[in-house]
Amino acid sequence: MVPVITIDGPSGSGKGTIARRLAARLGFGMLDSGALYRLTALASQNAGLAPQAPEIVDIARHLACRFDEEGNVFLNDENVSRELRTETTGAIASQIAARPEVREALLQRQRDFARAPGLVADGRDMGTVVFPEAPAKIFLDASAEVRADRRYKQLIENGFDASFTALVEEIRQRDERDRNRSVAPLRPAEDALVVDSSDLSIDEVEATLWRYIQDRL
Ligand code: C5P
Repeated sequence: MVPVITIDGPSGSGKGTIARRLAARLGFGMLDSGALYRLTALASQNAGLAPQAPEIVDIARHLACRFDEEGNVFLNDENVSRELRTETTGAIASQIAARPEVREALLQRQRDFARAPGLVADGRDMGTVVFPEAPAKIFLDASAEVRADRRYKQLIENGFDASFTALVEEIRQRDERDRNRSVAPLRPAEDALVVDSSDLSIDEVEATLWRYIQDRL
């Protein structure tokens, strides 16, 4: 079996950065599963559909998307990397992601990312639903304020406008929806290593996870 490392956690916990670092260090591929939900949200918005529209299931099933080595994401050959990361897209993605039939439509596509020599998969249900047999499972957490602060800096760095107070509120709402939905709620797998990164630098988080992974692969 192809070795898979799962990294789950709420938005802004640092899982994307850590997933990229670990994948590069191991020479593994990467699955940013949130991007698939965001792409579904974007394609639905482009089609003028509300988050509950039945057509969204088909959109999720037939997404024509591509990820390149530099981290760019393409939807129907258009580079949508920027639009994908906005808070609006994230909020719509989280509404769409609460629908079981949409999750089902994206399940196999996510599993298809597991190819030799290995995969680092980040998301909300990588360890609990998509790759329950993964040998290394991580749940990365951090307080809502710390996550909003990181997100704020990231947005400003990338040239977006942002309000810190609005971000804390948006993050709280999105977490609430992700943690309380009936299907694949955000929670650590029973056999996951749980790390709270609130008071840790990204290098410290990486060092902790690296030690854990060494023993498991
Ligand atoms: O991780 P990211 O913020 O890009 O994800 C956007 C939204 O997609 C999340 O708020 C969550 O609702 C949903 N998602 C999910 N399951 C995943 C990844 C993302 O439900 N595995």
